[in-house]
Amino acid sequence: MGSLKTEERGEQDLKVSNEAILYVNGVRRVLPDGLAHLTLLEYLRGLTGTKLGCGEGGCGACTVMVSHYDRKLRKCSHYAINACLAPLYSVEGMHVITVEGLGSCKRGLHPVQESLARTHGSQCGFCTPGFVMSMYALLRSSQTPPSEEQIEECLAGNLCRCTGYRPILDAFRVFAKTSNDLYTGVSSLSLEEGKSICPSTGKPCSCNLNNVNDKCVGSDNRYDPTSYNEIDGTKYTEKELIFPPELLLRIPTSLNLTGFAGLMWYRPLTLQHVLNLKAKYDNAKLIVGNTEVGIEMRLKRMPYRVLISVMHVPELNVLNAKDDGIEIGAAVRLSDLMNFLKKVVTERAAHETLSCKAFIEQLKWFAGTQIRNAASVGGNICTASPISDLNPLWMAARAKFQIIDVKGNIRTVLAENFFLPGYRKVNLASDEILLSIILPWNKTFEFVKEFKQSHRRDDDIAIVNAGIRVHLQEHSENWVVAGASIFYGGVAPYSLAAAKTKEFLIGKIWDKDLLQNALKILQTDILLKDNAPGGMIEFRKSLTLSFFFKFFLWVSHQMNSIKEVIPSSHLSAVHSVHRPSITGSQDYEILKRGTSVGSPEVHLSARLQVTGEAEYADDTPMPPNGLHAVLVLSRKPHARIISIDDSETLSSPGFVRLFLAKDVPGDNKIGAVVADEELFAVDRVTCVGQVIGIVVADTHENAKIAARKVDVKYEELPAILSIQDAVNAKSFHPNTEKCLSKGDVDHCFQSGLCDRIIEGEVQMGGQEHFYLEPQSSLVWTVDGGNEVHMISSTQYNSKWDREKWNIEAKKTILRDGAHKDIFETLFYDGIGTEKDRQLDKADYQHSQMVLFYLWKEVMRCDSVEQCLLAPQKHQKYVSHVLGLPMSKVVCKTKRIGGGFGGKETRSAFIAAAASVPSYLLNRPVKITLDRDVDMMITGQRHSFLGKYKVGFTNEGKVLAVDLEIYNNGGNSLDLSLAILERAMFHSDNVYEIPNMRIMGRVCFTNFPSHTAFRGFGGPQGMLITENWIQRIAVELRMSPEKIREINFQGEGSILHYGQKVQYSTLAPLWTELKSSCDFVKAREEVDQFNRHNRWRKRGIAMVPNKFGISFTTKLMNQAGALVQVYTDGTVLVTHGGVEMGQGLHTKVAQIAASAFNIPLSSVFISDTSTDKVPNASPTAASASSDMYGAAVLDACEQIVARMEPIASKSKFDSFTELVRACYAERIDLSAHGFYITPDIGFDWVTAKGKPFRYFTYGAAFAEVEIDTLTGDFHTRTANVFLDLGYSLNPAIDVGQIEGAFVQGLGWLALEELKWGDAAHKWIPSGCLYTTGPGTYKIPSVNDVPFKFNVSLLKGHPNVKAIHSSKAVGEPPFFLASSVLFAIKDAIIAARAEVGCSDWFPLDSPATPERIRMACLDELTTSLVNSDFRPKLSV
Ligand SMILES: Cc1cc2nc3c(=O)[nH]c(=O)nc-3n(C[C@H](O)[C@H](O)[C@H](O)COP(=O)(O)OP(=O)(O)OC[C@H]3O[C@@H](n4cnc5c(N)ncnc54)[C@H](O)[C@@H]3O)c2cc1C
Ligand code: FES
Ligand code: FES
Repeated sequence: MGSLKTEERGEQDLKVSNEAILYVNGVRRVLPDGLAHLTLLEYLRGLTGTKLGCGEGGCGACTVMVSHYDRKLRKCSHYAINACLAPLYSVEGMHVITVEGLGSCKRGLHPVQESLARTHGSQCGFCTPGFVMSMYALLRSSQTPPSEEQIEECLAGNLCRCTGYRPILDAFRVFAKTSNDLYTGVSSLSLEEGKSICPSTGKPCSCNLNNVNDKCVGSDNRYDPTSYNEIDGTKYTEKELIFPPELLLRIPTSLNLTGFAGLMWYRPLTLQHVLNLKAKYDNAKLIVGNTEVGIEMRLKRMPYRVLISVMHVPELNVLNAKDDGIEIGAAVRLSDLMNFLKKVVTERAAHETLSCKAFIEQLKWFAGTQIRNAASVGGNICTASPISDLNPLWMAARAKFQIIDVKGNIRTVLAENFFLPGYRKVNLASDEILLSIILPWNKTFEFVKEFKQSHRRDDDIAIVNAGIRVHLQEHSENWVVAGASIFYGGVAPYSLAAAKTKEFLIGKIWDKDLLQNALKILQTDILLKDNAPGGMIEFRKSLTLSFFFKFFLWVSHQMNSIKEVIPSSHLSAVHSVHRPSITGSQDYEILKRGTSVGSPEVHLSARLQVTGEAEYADDTPMPPNGLHAVLVLSRKPHARIISIDDSETLSSPGFVRLFLAKDVPGDNKIGAVVADEELFAVDRVTCVGQVIGIVVADTHENAKIAARKVDVKYEELPAILSIQDAVNAKSFHPNTEKCLSKGDVDHCFQSGLCDRIIEGEVQMGGQEHFYLEPQSSLVWTVDGGNEVHMISSTQYNSKWDREKWNIEAKKTILRDGAHKDIFETLFYDGIGTEKDRQLDKADYQHSQMVLFYLWKEVMRCDSVEQCLLAPQKHQKYVSHVLGLPMSKVVCKTKRIGGGFGGKETRSAFIAAAASVPSYLLNRPVKITLDRDVDMMITGQRHSFLGKYKVGFTNEGKVLAVDLEIYNNGGNSLDLSLAILERAMFHSDNVYEIPNMRIMGRVCFTNFPSHTAFRGFGGPQGMLITENWIQRIAVELRMSPEKIREINFQGEGSILHYGQKVQYSTLAPLWTELKSSCDFVKAREEVDQFNRHNRWRKRGIAMVPNKFGISFTTKLMNQAGALVQVYTDGTVLVTHGGVEMGQGLHTKVAQIAASAFNIPLSSVFISDTSTDKVPNASPTAASASSDMYGAAVLDACEQIVARMEPIASKSKFDSFTELVRACYAERIDLSAHGFYITPDIGFDWVTAKGKPFRYFTYGAAFAEVEIDTLTGDFHTRTANVFLDLGYSLNPAIDVGQIEGAFVQGLGWLALEELKWGDAAHKWIPSGCLYTTGPGTYKIPSVNDVPFKFNVSLLKGHPNVKAIHSSKAVGEPPFFLASSVLFAIKDAIIAARAEVGCSDWFPLDSPATPERIRMACLDELTTSLVNSDFRPKLSV
């Protein structure tokens, strides 16, 4: 035990200050006391660019760059962090740059922004600022241009649900250069000694060697509008924000600040001060990155009261290579550790640094860049999470921890003795802190290796991880184990030592016998109970064996003398996949029609989105007397409500009122199709998350606190928690039994014509929409509360002039005085000055009223962008629950941050709930769902169960199919019937089935109502089909592709619902796809690879699809539009469709531009508004471009026809001149357009008709590689072909295809919803476990196919839709099933290795668990039978 030397206890920093400052985008801010509870994101939300996507560090939407001057190194560091986890005061004295600090539409875009906009890298735009900031931070922090690999790595913490990432990578790839002269025109060879190219200015500079800012302070800080003709990375802007000189000179002081509810925040600058504080507050939490504490306080509601930020304490930030190893201060950030280790491995002997290499590898897969930039080594250790990625490695690598107590005594403890049995228990007394870690150098023949398997490679916590070490010594020509450590994470409440296995290993010869015996003993070391939290018991056990097996092979491979014992094919267990940079091709022809149609125009909002200027609902400034609402939700899946007690809420801070069913002024019964839901539950709840009431309070946090205090007593009732439960109990939604048939199925089965008849079941999980922008609504009343207006999940349009509003508001405040908070907001928005701040703040009430009316005025005179996927639905719900006529409820939209069906109907009840308090209190009410609540209550893609009986010939010709399909509707009908019907329509996919019968039912279950999601049941129907097709192939030992081809429908085929196939493009698509991937060769290559690799297998598949276009409910196939031509020659278009990133407005504007023969820039699309275009159908079914495009064209043509007599009389130089002439002649320059989809209709009585106007055909090829020991997989290639007729905008269409494919890949191979049901007893009954990005994994940049090629079929105009185009949104989604079937193909190869060639089911999503458990081998035989099927919530 040592002690802290007296002189180290210097108290030089005990000059405690509570003056805190921060620079945001170059502007100085004083941080007042009292804000310790705020995150940086909450503080920044006055700006619009930094978005709240999840609030838990998992999506990257809140990414900002922080610049900090390190006084010791005399150097500035720039790094990206998640603003949602950074405590506001943690960035004190730093410079925060948000997306607004880069560029804007008025000032000019930064090249990163420009490039992203131009390459179609922004669709809905909600994720976009986060991507921009991650890339920007990488560029500013890199002393040399980053590599493509670094670029992909830096985006691991950013999620995008729309684009499929390829265009984002393409946009940023231009900045990956290998030579400085490409940046600047200055060759690095010509640089003066000591200078390099400044990543900030792109000029020769010595900043990174001396003082970054001395040099850069002089650079020009003015913004001029900049236009970049070509973004190729050869120019780098000279308009970067510099590091503020004041912060360079400023001597940091320790801080002592406070926050809400008595929270105390300390920032000591010396170790002694930390110890003093710890002595005073033994319950104090030390924090560095706050990535753990932040989650604990916000999501787990841990009430910590004293926080000590130790990130600036020098003694805790040491990083030294010493004789006995590396000394790592506890506060060292993970990214700094990683960089240091990378340096060390180049400087020390290779054998000494195997532990370092293991840490580097493990850190690569530790969270995303933003988290690694903030999180500390000590934070990870002291959290002692059972799935910590580093703790098993510290233990395996024999690291020592140095611990210091408040008196300065230091003791050293071995890592393996630091973690105690039990959940998050460590050998650390309350008066001690972790000081540093010593990572010893490795001895010769000492091997250390890391292992981790998670759901997703990038930014995911481990399912199981491990750190394994062995030290070998040579004895009598044998290699004998002299020392060993084996530690696992994810198999116990703490990092677990495999003690018996270790004991066994010591003294044994390193050979195959050792392996076999160790694997047996290991199984007795790892004991997981069946209901252990986390589930996946068999998989987790198998991973512990797989990791040891891999370790054995790896060590043997490293040891040349042992290597011969390993057959070369087994080395595939050791080699990790090298992920090349993603490449892709987009093959389409440009067929321009008129000025704009057919041209690959950039999304009209792209520039607003990349600059963060595009606003969404939660960016709306709260009106001065506005209230925040939070829902009171059921905690039981099925229960009678005994009582609701709100007495505790009355004393809750800021609480205003609780509203329940009895308060609803209109009708409490609501529903999308039938009114089978209650706005607020009356006396019974039928799912966890059902809305019981709504609380309003002055802040969101206070509303949450109050809502938690509402005490609801329940009497629990039996719940139905799966489709199978519902089928057994005959629990179906009323009137949902449907049947479609063709031919005579029974007769065919009995006729003997079928050589074989198979029966089976297909089950598939649901999918969370995970739109990046959570649901949000702002409702307010007008005219004394007699009219209701609302914004939902969107923000104002460009006509809404924030500056104007701010200036007006400021005038009012200065005139009348104002409340501090309002003033601060305005000040923060950049219109206040220090002096203004001191002005009279009296007369608060009065000014608040003035502000409110001013706000309302602005809202009314400038178009408010209100966002609803179906604004009409909101209008209808709100008028219904308030008892108001629809004409008095206005709902508008400009854009939404992704919808995918999740905001089609399941957003309306949220707006309706918020309208009740707004209407009754006559005050604005805002509701924004936290991500976990959003995922918990708004429903998902339906899980399905399909039961099939299929008869076919020995040649593979299908003769009869009998299907029963069930979807999990949840507790209300919503759109479930229409979704089931579409699944039934698509249950033939592209196959000719002479005899077919499909019966469908919608199951009533005690889950939140499931709803629309891209494909609307079609993909589920087709997936059932492709499953039995694949099974026929296995039964007949033929390739699935052959079975597919044999059964293709042809031109004129009559489908099972009576529609005739016309203009089919299946054959040319299939032929082109087949030749593009050279399928025969691909098959040979894959087979050859599989022969040479025992533990890695490749698989391929080609899958076709046809997707019916039109709403299957006929009345919805109508569309309206309003077109207005102004005398300056510009055109304003309003239509009933909503822009959600899919480029609808861009396409519609192109149609209008071509119709008037004017440039696209002359057309503006206004907000979607119920008071301009009434009775609009939801923007869904992929048909919006067809329908709204046609409605707009109709309006344009009316105006053109009216103009024609004038146009034909004389020649006009411009459209503007013509318009003015028409105006002079009193021609009406406004027209309402209307369109109904012709020639469609389906009659469910006869079960025959023509539900679809036409079909969009597609086909895809995929090649994958799986790790059979862990279930990890990569998509090596995806070729996607789609027939989109003559595309309206091929670039936008390609974006839709790529986005849909990657989203489909998520559904089929990554994203698993886990509910508290019979399969998951460790989750509370009926609760959703996967309620955030931490537990629910959508594809990340690492999941994009290595080669991603998209082609549009050429030369096939579509005669059935506008400008010969075809709908695109949903059809490509299912093509991702090529990846699923390629995975299955690879698993078949793995099973063949153990002689198993029978058919087996592979449920989707094919997660690593399902892949690994399907790959039978000697490690799994002791754990499961060959028909083992991992559990799935269906
Ligand atoms: C999105 C996300 C992804 C993540 N991914 C991973 C992952 O892949 N793998 C993984 O292992 N973890 C992961 N984590 C967990 C987390 O990032 C780590 O635990 C992180 O290292 C914690 O560091 P911190 O500095 O942020 O800790 P903080 O939150 O600041 O502190 C954590 C705890 O450590 C204590 N503490 C900190 N320093 C000391 C000290 N010197 N002495 C005593 N106690 C101390 C604090 O009091 C607190 O209890 C993830 C977290 C998030 C939010
Ligand atoms: S909002 Fe911060 S990471 Fe999602
Ligand atoms: S553009 Fe990325 S989430 Fe929409």
